[in-house]
Amino acid sequence: MSPIQVYLPDAGQGDFGQRPFVATHNLEHHELFTDEALAELLDRFPRKHLYALTMGSDPTRADENRLAIHDGVSGAELLRAVRNGRLWLNVTRVDLADARYRALIDQLYTQLAARVPGFTPTSSQGTLLISSPHAMVYYHADAAATVLWHIRGHKRIWIYPPLDERYMKREFLEDIFAGVRHEYLPYDAAFDEGAVSYELAPGQWATWPQNAPHRITNLGSVNVSLSTEYFTAATRRRQRVYVANHFFRTRLHAKNVAARETGTAATLKTLVHRVANRLGLARLEYRQHAPAMRVDADAPGGVAPLRNDTATVTVCTP
Ligand SMILES: [Fe+2]
Repeated sequence: MSPIQVYLPDAGQGDFGQRPFVATHNLEHHELFTDEALAELLDRFPRKHLYALTMGSDPTRADENRLAIHDGVSGAELLRAVRNGRLWLNVTRVDLADARYRALIDQLYTQLAARVPGFTPTSSQGTLLISSPHAMVYYHADAAATVLWHIRGHKRIWIYPPLDERYMKREFLEDIFAGVRHEYLPYDAAFDEGAVSYELAPGQWATWPQNAPHRITNLGSVNVSLSTEYFTAATRRRQRVYVANHFFRTRLHAKNVAARETGTAATLKTLVHRVANRLGLARLEYRQHAPAMRVDADAPGGVAPLRNDTATVTVCTP
């Protein structure tokens, strides 16, 4: 196995975190991402942190996204359902479940930090994404800053301008940071005129500014990607400001609270929120989703309807 390499052209160094761009790596032949290794990982992965999602075919209809349970379905069967159906498996916080992933992500970020002047992540984490041919992820924004390491298959990603009210209302991002809103956002096909779009192949990685909305459609192959989130002083500051703004808007009914991330007002605001939090005045109700399907590799689409909707779990988007 050759050492892990992250390639970044000189021209991309100033763009990291500022603009969308694509560069290359050499993970596509790594032993962690073979079918055998993935099946073995899924067999022993804590299933409450594994989410199977199926979807419709209209990118404006995020309401057609369905969570599927997978108790008792082996890793090999999950992979067969992905191959034959139209599913998305989110293996969340794989770095906590498998020390080899933790070590891999550490190596990736050590190399990134060495190549990007001024990039000093304080922590990172990862979610493994295994998805069907033609599966899609609806238009959404993630709270954390992301680097997507694409490893198997081909997919197209559209990335839209960040912190731009034409593409995402600011209050939606406040809700996302506060964890009270599912990350899916209202989408209009006309947004695509303002998007940057890439077709990703094995051995490429993509990144974009924190919170930039994006959506993904797989091409005709099974896809495997490692989505990693990184945290810096700046990303944590933005988190504190937007969560505080959510508190001021929803609890104190403040209107048009400034989104400025630095300065005295931002610091005071986050301090007030922290105190309110300590006093139990800023409790949040986290959005929950009930599964509607169960994974069945022999069913059309790889999922069958679930008769008893009893369990309730939180969904994380890729
Ligand atoms: Fe995402």
